[in-house]
Amino acid sequence: MYSEKVMDHFRNPRNVGEIPDADGVGTVGNPVCGDMMSIYIKVKDDRIVDIKFKTFGCGAAIATSSMITELAKGKTLDEALKVTRADVAKELGGLPPVKMHCSNLAADALHEAIKDYRKRRGEG
Ligand code: FES
Repeated sequence: MYSEKVMDHFRNPRNVGEIPDADGVGTVGNPVCGDMMSIYIKVKDDRIVDIKFKTFGCGAAIATSSMITELAKGKTLDEALKVTRADVAKELGGLPPVKMHCSNLAADALHEAIKDYRKRRGEG
């Protein structure tokens, strides 16, 4: 049912945790299942230099969070804003159709964290 990549990110999620002095935090809930995810970012020169996540959700949600932290790290904020739900699912080698809604959380939380960062700086 799940690709090898999904299972790998589920079993060994990358960048799990919290950044206490994060520059931006995005928290979103999934309207379909009620699961929640937070993404924390550290930004330097408009680039994401560190990123961590906390996910209270299913295996697919954990795998997509893990994957999006890898996709976003090192990107500029504008580049990271372009990472879509579909990109995450594609990088994971696809998700079962019933689990596609789980990949929404990761992209949304990342975008919220960037918005939060810009708001804190008075740019949003
Ligand atoms: Fe809730 Fe997957 S079932 S995020």
